[in-house]
Formats: sequence, C-alpha cells, structure tokens
Amino acid sequence: MNAQLLRETARILLADAKGLLAMDESNPTCNRRFAKLGIPQTVEARRAYRELIVTTPGLGESISGAILYDETIREQTKDGTPFLKVLADAGIIPGIKVDTGAKDLAAHPGEKITEGLDGLRERLQEYFQMGARFAKWRAVIVIGDGLPSRSCIEANAHALARYAALCQEAGLVPMVEPEVLMDGAHSLERCRQVTEEVLRNVFIQLNCQRVMLEGIILKPNMILPGLACPRPQEVKEVAAGEQQFQVKLIDRQPEEEADVNAVADVTVKSLWRTVPAAVPGIAFLSGGQSAELASARLNMMNHRYKAQLPWAVTFSFARAIQQPALEIWQGKDANLLAAQKALVHRAHCNRDARRGEYTSAMA
Ligand code: G3H
Repeated sequence: MNAQLLRETARILLADAKGLLAMDESNPTCNRRFAKLGIPQTVEARRAYRELIVTTPGLGESISGAILYDETIREQTKDGTPFLKVLADAGIIPGIKVDTGAKDLAAHPGEKITEGLDGLRERLQEYFQMGARFAKWRAVIVIGDGLPSRSCIEANAHALARYAALCQEAGLVPMVEPEVLMDGAHSLERCRQVTEEVLRNVFIQLNCQRVMLEGIILKPNMILPGLACPRPQEVKEVAAGEQQFQVKLIDRQPEEEADVNAVADVTVKSLWRTVPAAVPGIAFLSGGQSAELASARLNMMNHRYKAQLPWAVTFSFARAIQQPALEIWQGKDANLLAAQKALVHRAHCNRDARRGEYTSAMA
C-alpha cells in the first residue's frame, strides 16, 4: 500500500474549501431522472448531459474531485476529448463508483446489501491505470419497523471495509458511504441513533480489515427526520362569528421544519462520538434534500463548529448540485449555458458553505 499517495490524494481532495461532485448515477438512476423531465433515456443524452457537467466553466474553483460511473469514465466530448482530460485540465481529480448496487439482503425483508466485491481488485487496477485516484461504494440502511437489523448493519459495514482495503491496496482513496435513508416516518432522534450505530460498526470493520484511516474519506448522511415523519402541527385560533374560538391545525413540511441549527448540532455531535480524528475528511451526501437546505445545513456545521473539528467537513453532493441544472437543461442545447451557470452556482454555494460563509440570499 502506498500510504503517501493515499494521504496526498485525500489532502488534495479536501484542500481549499472545495468539495466533490457526485456524477456517478447508474444508467437506470440517470434514466429515471431524465424520464421525469421528458429527456430521452439514451446513451447519447446521458453523454451529452455529462459533457455539459464536465465542461462547465469554473467548476474546478469549487470542485476538487468528480465521481464518475463506468460508462462516463470511458466517454469523450463531442469533439473527441476524453472526459478524463477535460477534468484534468480543470484541476478535478477523477473518482469512480465501484459497487454494483444495493440488492435485497436474503432473509431480511426490506433491507439491502451492496454488492461488487467479486473481481473488484482487477477493476480497481484498471481504473487506477485510467487515472482514477479515488473510489466510492454506497451502502444503504433503511429505518423502519424493527429496521435496521444488526445483521444488515454488520454485513454492509463488512463489505465497505473489504472494499476500502482493496482500494488502498490499488492506490485509490476509498470514499466510504454508509447512507441511512431519509425514506420513512422516523424522527430526527431515531436517525441519530441509527446513524451512530452504523458509523460505530463501520469503523470497527475498517479497523478489522486494517484500513488506514488517514487515507479514506467518509461520506455519511446528515442526521435528518424521515420524509414521512409526522408533520408538526401548529395550533391556531380563529374567530367564528359570535361563536367560541375554533382550533385549526396547520400542516407544515417536516423537511423544512427540521431546523437548520438542530440538524447541524445533532450531526456534528454524532460525528464527534463516532468518527476517529485520524480520518481527514467527511463529505456529506445530499440524500434528496433540496439544494438550498443541503447548503444551509453544511454551512451551519462549519459556521458553528469549524474551529473545533478534527476533520474537514465538506460536500459530495449529486442531486443538491445537479438537480437545478438538470431541470434547466431538459435535454435541449439551447439551455446548455444556463444549465452550466446553475451548476457552477450551486458548486460555489457549497464552497461557501464549507467555509461557513453561505447565506440563503446567495441561492
Ligand atoms: O451515492 C450517492 C451519491 O454519491 C450522492 O447523491 O447527493 O443525491 O444523495 P445525493
């Protein structure tokens, strides 16, 4: 294992208040997002969209690394320039998603195990030769009635650690992504409990597989209430003519309700309890939060706690950077420049959030 190369790659990925751009959607995921906007689900449309992303002017000012998908790392711009060269020219380090997806975990209804360890050593060697210097593996943990099971957490933590050790052997910095999903009716507190249990297991397994913590990047979820968490209700009194006052209940959106300060506090405190100081950086996934909320929450963590944190706290968002641009592009050349402008704007907002200097006015 080349420890110096791993440390140096991690250092560059986390330097200068930059963060990472996840553009590693599998073809089915990318097609699903295209379908929602009426964009054709073709190889050429996916290539054109990814060309839009990698050729966005100024992207390298706030993005240090881009996570690619197997199809994307081999692609070229319309004029024949490999995406890898375009990224290198922009000062962006290429990374690669190497898991082969989350599949049903046998005997555990509703739970998933991420696959992709078979043949991974050889695939990593090929990606390293192509120029990739970091990798990503995503484990998925569902919160539900009696879920997650201990066996699901342990199986996923074990797979993450086996993947991470193989990456380091091949000279790639592993991004270790245990994602506790936002789907479900759970509370912020339940998400905290589960996330802490998952992270504890992940670090036990990483140590067990002799992964060098100085050469990984952790990619966790922020701690948030589930999307279907019962909505807080506000009691409001309204006059009804001569009658007594009536009581009306007003629904509010749980995601917006989760206070930016509370999310920042709970998330940082949980990470303090579970993530060793040897880890150089934590790069959050966005998980389906709106672009603005993801930036605001990341900002609050850095604004309040940056000076006390042992690790860099940054972003590795996909939807929270890409979604506004994708909605503008809609598969049309005429919208390309406006979409690129939206993309680089979100990237810059998150760089500001990493510094703790983002304000919603910037959005
Ligand atoms: O694996 C998931 C991506 O790397 C992050 O995607 O920011 O849309 O959750 P997201």
